[in-house]
Amino acid sequence: MRSQSWFTSESPSGFVARSWTKNQGYPNHLYDGRPVIGICNTWSELTPCNAHFRVLAEMVKRGVYEAGGFPLEFPVMSLGEALMRPTTMLFRNLAAMEVEETLRANPLDGVVLLTGCDKTTPSTIMGACSVDLPTIVVSGGAMLNGKFRGRDIGSGTDVWRFHDDLRTGAMSQDEYVEAEACMSRSDGNCMTMGTASTMACMVESLGLTLPGGAAIPAPDARRKRLAHLAGNRIVGMVKEDLRISKVLTREAFENAILVNAAVGGSTNFIIHMLAIAGRLGVPLSMDDFDQLGSRLPLLVNLMPSGEFLMEDFYYAGGVPAVMRELAGLLHLGALTVTGKALGDNIAGAPCYDRKVIAPFGEPVKAAAGTAVLRGNLAPDGAVIKPSAASPHLLKHRGQAVVFENIDDYHARVDDPALPVDANSVMVLKMVGPVGYPGMPEVGNFSLPQKLLDQGIRDVVRISDARMSGTAFGTVILHVAPESAIGGPLALVQEGDWISLDVEARSLRLEVSDEELARRRASWKAPAQPAARGYVDLFLRHVQQANLGADFDFLVGKSGSTVSRESHA
Ligand code: FES
Repeated sequence: MRSQSWFTSESPSGFVARSWTKNQGYPNHLYDGRPVIGICNTWSELTPCNAHFRVLAEMVKRGVYEAGGFPLEFPVMSLGEALMRPTTMLFRNLAAMEVEETLRANPLDGVVLLTGCDKTTPSTIMGACSVDLPTIVVSGGAMLNGKFRGRDIGSGTDVWRFHDDLRTGAMSQDEYVEAEACMSRSDGNCMTMGTASTMACMVESLGLTLPGGAAIPAPDARRKRLAHLAGNRIVGMVKEDLRISKVLTREAFENAILVNAAVGGSTNFIIHMLAIAGRLGVPLSMDDFDQLGSRLPLLVNLMPSGEFLMEDFYYAGGVPAVMRELAGLLHLGALTVTGKALGDNIAGAPCYDRKVIAPFGEPVKAAAGTAVLRGNLAPDGAVIKPSAASPHLLKHRGQAVVFENIDDYHARVDDPALPVDANSVMVLKMVGPVGYPGMPEVGNFSLPQKLLDQGIRDVVRISDARMSGTAFGTVILHVAPESAIGGPLALVQEGDWISLDVEARSLRLEVSDEELARRRASWKAPAQPAARGYVDLFLRHVQQANLGADFDFLVGKSGSTVSRESHA
C-alpha cells in the first residue's frame, strides 16, 4: 500500500510522518501498515447543504476503525450554490484540482468522498478519477420536504414560482419571507430532483456508493449508518485494489444515463458526466445522452418534472426501485463498490409507493430524458429537458428578442417597449463558460413583467448558460460553441426567426449562410474585463459545454505515484 512508504519507513521522512501525526494522539499500532483512508470533507458553513458533514465524517471514521483501517479526514474547497458568486461552476475545476493533488500528495490508500451541494460531487469525483485510488462516495442527503401553509414546497422549484407570484401580487412580502424558513427546515441539500439529488442518483447508478445511498434524507439516522458502512467498505476496497476506474466503465456511464432519464434528473448531469468520463478516458459524447436516455419514460414523480420530493422518493424505494424497473435495459453485470455486480445490489428492491415511482409500463411521462439539439444555431449541440418544458412549445417558430449579455437583460427585460409576446424566442448571449465567465445557472431567465401580467408563464428561451436542476420551462441550454468565442449564437439579431423542433432534435436560425458569413466577418469578440489569477487560467483553458467544460490540461489521469520524497 502506498501509505507504507510514508509510515513504515525508518528514514527521517518516516520519523517525521509518524511523529507529527502522533501529535493528534494516534497510538503506535495505527502505523503498522494498515490501510490509510482519506475522508475528503466538503464541510463548510458557507455551503449550508454540507454543514452537517462533520458528524458524517465521524460515522465514516467509526466504520474505518472497525474494519482495521486508519482514517484521516481532510478539508477541501467547498462549493455552495446558495452563496458563491458569480457561479460555483467557475470553481468546479479548481476544487477538482485541489482534490486530485491532495490525494496524490498524501499517504492515502483509499478515499471516502463526502459530497452534497451540486458541484461538490462532480469536482471531488473528477479529482479522484485522475488519481485512481479505491474510492467510495457518501452523499449528504436531501433536506426534509419543505412545508408551507399546509402544502409541500420544493427547494428552488417553488422559489421561482414564489418570485413570479410576488411580482404579480399573488404573494405578499410577509408570505415570501415566511416561506424562506419553511423551505429549508433541516440539514441537507435541495430536496427536489435538482442537481444535488441528481448527482446523488448519478453516484448510486454509477455504482460508486452503497445501495440506497442517494435518497436517504439528511437527518435520517440511516444516513449515519450508511456513512459507517461506507467506512467499513472502503477498507475492503483497498485490500481488493478496487480502484475507481474499475467501477466507472462505459457500462456504468450508460447505466447512469438511463437512470437519470427515469428520475427526471438535471441537465447539469450531462456536463458533469462528460467531465468525469474525460478524466478516465471513457468515450462519452453528448449524443450518447440523447440516444440512450431521451426516449425513456419518466418513472419518478418529483419536482421539477413532477409533484413529490426526495423524502417521498426514499420512502417509496429510492434508486434501487427505479433500477429494478429498468433492469431489462441496464448492464446488470457492472461492478460496484460493494464488490458485487449492480444486478446483485438491486435484486428484490421493493417499491412502496407507485404514485412516486411508477412502473415502467405506466410512466409519469412518456419520454423524459434530456434531448440534444443540433442545427446551425448549435453546431456542437444544445440541450433541453422536455419533461420540464411546456408541451405546446416543444415545436415552435418565433422571432428573436435578443439580450447581448446579462447586464443588457437586466436593463431592458421589464421595459414596457420591449417587443416581446408569447411567441417570441428570448435569446441571452455571453453566459457560457468563457462569456460570463463560468457558465452560470441563468438559462431559465425570468420572463418580462409585461408577459407575466398577461398570465404568460413560459416562452422559448435560448442561451449558452446552464439551468438550475430545480428549474423548469422551455429553455435551451449549453449552446455550443458559445457566443463569447464567436459561436452562431453571437450572430443572432433582433427579429430573426428561430425554429425549434424537439422531436426532430433541431434548432435553426432562419438566416441564410451568406448573411451569417457577412455577420461573422464583422463580428468582434466583446471586450472582457482583464482577468488575473485563477480566472485568467480558467479563461485560457476551459473547454466548451459539449466537452464537459473541464480544463484542457486536466483531461485524463496521472495515477497516484509520487516519485520524490519531501525530505532528503
Ligand atoms: Fe445546495 Fe441546492 S443549494 S443543493
